[in-house]
Amino acid sequence: PVVKELFGLANLEEAIRQSYGLRKVVVVPGDCDASPLVKRELGRAGARALLSSMNEGDGVAVTGGTTLAEVAEQLNPPHNLTMKDSWFVPARGGLGESLEIQANTIASGMAKRVGAGYRLLHVPDLLGKEAYESLVHDPNIEDIVNMIRQARIVVHGIGDAMEMARRRKLEPQVTEQIRKEGAVAESFGYYFNEDGVVVHKMRTLGLRLEDIMKTETVIGIAGGKSKAKAIHAVLRFGQEDILVIDEAAAVEIVTQL
Ligand code: F6P
Repeated sequence: PVVKELFGLANLEEAIRQSYGLRKVVVVPGDCDASPLVKRELGRAGARALLSSMNEGDGVAVTGGTTLAEVAEQLNPPHNLTMKDSWFVPARGGLGESLEIQANTIASGMAKRVGAGYRLLHVPDLLGKEAYESLVHDPNIEDIVNMIRQARIVVHGIGDAMEMARRRKLEPQVTEQIRKEGAVAESFGYYFNEDGVVVHKMRTLGLRLEDIMKTETVIGIAGGKSKAKAIHAVLRFGQEDILVIDEAAAVEIVTQL
């Protein structure tokens, strides 16, 4: 309330945009942690940010998660928009999560909504060493992984590190190791400490850190006061171009972190 008066949404957007050198920041009112309606608004704002960044023919790589699932649901392109030469792919394999929030489901759902094409990557999120070695040389998989790496736009969610370790059912000793290394954020299969340094990565197929660094437009979408630390860490990593968050996270980032 006091903070809200001090920082209008537009001021929050501009403060964060300037601090982290971003192209664009969108802050939706409210707190996703407190209301599913706020999460829907976050999804709508994310969908708008994606549509306004896309040109016909673009490749888009998307991650999984409940926030991205909301973005997919809110993707309503204007009638005159043609995207039949564009394509969507999952950023990584993701068969570990429940079906509705897997990157494959989100990529195909988005593609259908805008009339674009899509390709799927049917491999688990977390791979054993041997499985990785054999899959990485499979020609079909190589083909789609190459497409993923050529995506002009990456749209991704951001999660709290420990929360994601739990959701992915990582082994207790791995979780403990990640915690000891100071991980506060998880995004695209990488765990980051509060300075935005990668402290752990998952053995997974698809987008790598070096691909993200070369991507023309990286769009991060996340909300909730509980994610402020995680969002901040990913901002410090420094590859974000467009950030779509909610007011609760934005206030926390501007006043606390
Ligand atoms: O597992 C995919 C993923 O995008 C993670 O990289 C991220 O941490 C998480 O989902 C965000 O999930 P949610 O939007 O459900 O909080």
